[in-house]
Amino acid sequence: MNHVVTEIGRRRFLTQAGACGLATVLGVGARTAIAMPGMAPAEATIDFKPDLELELVANVDEVLILPGAPTRVWRFDGRVLRGDPGALQFLAGSGYIPVIRTRRGQKVRVHFINRLPEASIVHWHGLHIVQRMDGHPMYAVGTGKRYVYEFTVDNRAGTYWFHPHPHGRTGFQVYHGLAGFLLVGDQEEDAARLPSGEHDLPLIIQDRTFDPLNRLVYLGRGMMDRMMGFLGERVLVNGSPDFGHRVERTAYRLRLLNGSNSTLYRLSLSSGEPVVLIGTDGGLLERPVVRRHLTLAIGERADVWLDFGARQPGDEVHLIAESFSPSLNVVTHLQSGAAPTRGGRPIARFRVAGGPTRKTALPKRLSSFPLLDIKNSRNRDRPRQVQLSMVRGRVMLNGRSFDDMHGVADDEKVKLGTTEVWEFANDAAFGMLMAHPIHVHNLQFRVLDRTGGARSNRVHEGLRAGFTDEGLKDVVLVMPGERVKALMKFEDHTGLYLYHCHILEHEDLGMMRNYLVEPS
Ligand code: C2O
Ligand code: CU
Ligand code: CU
Repeated sequence: MNHVVTEIGRRRFLTQAGACGLATVLGVGARTAIAMPGMAPAEATIDFKPDLELELVANVDEVLILPGAPTRVWRFDGRVLRGDPGALQFLAGSGYIPVIRTRRGQKVRVHFINRLPEASIVHWHGLHIVQRMDGHPMYAVGTGKRYVYEFTVDNRAGTYWFHPHPHGRTGFQVYHGLAGFLLVGDQEEDAARLPSGEHDLPLIIQDRTFDPLNRLVYLGRGMMDRMMGFLGERVLVNGSPDFGHRVERTAYRLRLLNGSNSTLYRLSLSSGEPVVLIGTDGGLLERPVVRRHLTLAIGERADVWLDFGARQPGDEVHLIAESFSPSLNVVTHLQSGAAPTRGGRPIARFRVAGGPTRKTALPKRLSSFPLLDIKNSRNRDRPRQVQLSMVRGRVMLNGRSFDDMHGVADDEKVKLGTTEVWEFANDAAFGMLMAHPIHVHNLQFRVLDRTGGARSNRVHEGLRAGFTDEGLKDVVLVMPGERVKALMKFEDHTGLYLYHCHILEHEDLGMMRNYLVEPS
């Protein structure tokens, strides 16, 4: 007998076999959604049996971020309705940033409830997912409305995230606090025996500006402000302006996410030790890679191995961030708070506690994955061109903006099952040049190569040395004057998906387009 999930009352869900009778009375078959009065277009379906079922509410709240008055934020709240009660947690810090933990293959149902004063929709950044569950702005629901997501997690283990995606308002909504982690685990990751539990620390980096009353200050209305993107005066980690964490004398996994609107970070460690990168957007690398520092563009993730095993109790190690505007000015001097260290500022402080040292070995091999093969691409020598441009207040992809929810040009249509090379070209002859982090929905790509760009510019070179082009990616930073080739495969799902600049102000201005995966 099918289980039917029916919403009764405001926050109550009943699962009862008896409700099947109701479905029959209403004349709905087992494959049909049950339409209840007041429900949004997407509803729970009868034959989808979730392993994890969540309620995720976007609402307005007040939280303590700075000393003194609380700050009004827009945040995700929620609870687990079915499945592991620990699958939804809130990060220590200001306590309002959620972390959802899932496993590959799990069936997940999320009841998104919009209690914001405006329309919204949730996008699962990085997930390979059917169109209707991807949070395209065409599905945005108004105040008091809900949207039910049902999907099977079909990604490798890794650090994904979620955020609102209503057209024109993504920047505002994310800025005011709507973002969370979506962590996926799988057997391969289990086998790598990485630090887990309290030794697995998701860290979201976001910059914010507060007024003297501790209220968040976003952009003015000026077009130029939007073109340049929003740069905050303080860098927050997990919602906290002075994030500190007590660590044991063992290895940790730091899952870094740049959840800022426009700011790029160059990250390093105060101890001077190099950064050990073990994973990027689409999960673990095959083997660890060592960097002096990491460059993290907006939306990018970096999984880092950090071992405190050789430290003495009382030692402190800081994560240092140097901030850059996408116009590539260093903006660290704007950012108040902690004192600068070697050009950057500490944004997270790890204090080593007493207790025994626990030795952990960094695995030499982390994962193996089927790399997309260039040999299978249909256009190796004629990559699909995507010109990035900023001309007279417009930010565009191939000279077009996102002006129609369903709009898709002929050169934005691809065939299901094909592998293609796309070339993002940031070398327009007119207008102004900025670095653009380009994001493609629904898939993970491989970065093939970068050409052009200022090769003798110190700032550019400094950032370039920290790029995380390894592994599978869903965001790639394209520097001014540069061309970046990416290899991607359009698998499993047909439909409309987005590709866009992940500078949220650019996305809101329309530096975003649909691409259409057509049946082959
Ligand atoms: Cu992280 Cu289309 O977004
Ligand atoms: Cu996305
Ligand atoms: Cu951009």
